[in-house]
Amino acid sequence: MSIVPKDEEVKFSRYKYIMSRTDTKGNIQFANDYFLQVSGYDLTELVGKPHNIIRHPDMPKTIFKLMWDRLKSGNSIYAVVKNLAKDGRYYWVTTEFDIKRDPSTNEINGYMAFRQMCPRKVVDTIEPIYAKLLEIESEQGLKAAELYFNGFLDSRQESYDQFVENVAQNKGAMKIFFAAMKKFFS
Ligand SMILES: Cc1cc2nc3c(=O)[nH]c(=O)nc-3n(C[C@H](O)[C@H](O)[C@H](O)COP(=O)(O)O)c2cc1C
Repeated sequence: MSIVPKDEEVKFSRYKYIMSRTDTKGNIQFANDYFLQVSGYDLTELVGKPHNIIRHPDMPKTIFKLMWDRLKSGNSIYAVVKNLAKDGRYYWVTTEFDIKRDPSTNEINGYMAFRQMCPRKVVDTIEPIYAKLLEIESEQGLKAAELYFNGFLDSRQESYDQFVENVAQNKGAMKIFFAAMKKFFS
């Protein structure tokens, strides 16, 4: 049964974090209590399901492609993500996606994501960019949207990471916070 998105936002705390862990295919293995509270799911409804269970149709494919390419090459990435709650409401989060390695073989054996509420100001900046990417994806396909996004970053003379860092003000306290969370769950 597919969820009908509503133009209503889930209100939640910027002081709490939303965490999940997946296998290498993106199937959910664990989600913390705040994930469950904000998304409206029980853990039993999530475990074993693909993480796109909370994918919002307003999210461009371009961003997830970038994210997966980065994770599969063994690197972490930040992204601003609009998610879909079980009741159709949405919530914006700043997310750090990271890899998990098997300590004995050093092979990637899963992924993790740490999320925090995304400030309104950041959403206001990112929303029109995502809307443009979505429009290009639907009219001309993913490749064209990726080209547009690369051109957009070039025109700002920023790499993707610099862009996110600047737009999401993803520095200082946020970085320390994500680093602490990572340590805790690794
Ligand atoms: C650790 C981890 C966390 C993820 N968290 C989210 C998330 O919060 N929201 C989301 O839409 N996709 C998330 N994804 C990406 C999904 O797996 C999926 O690629 C995305 O929703 C796009 O769906 P699609 O691949 O069916 O187009 C996550 C993936 C991983 C590995």
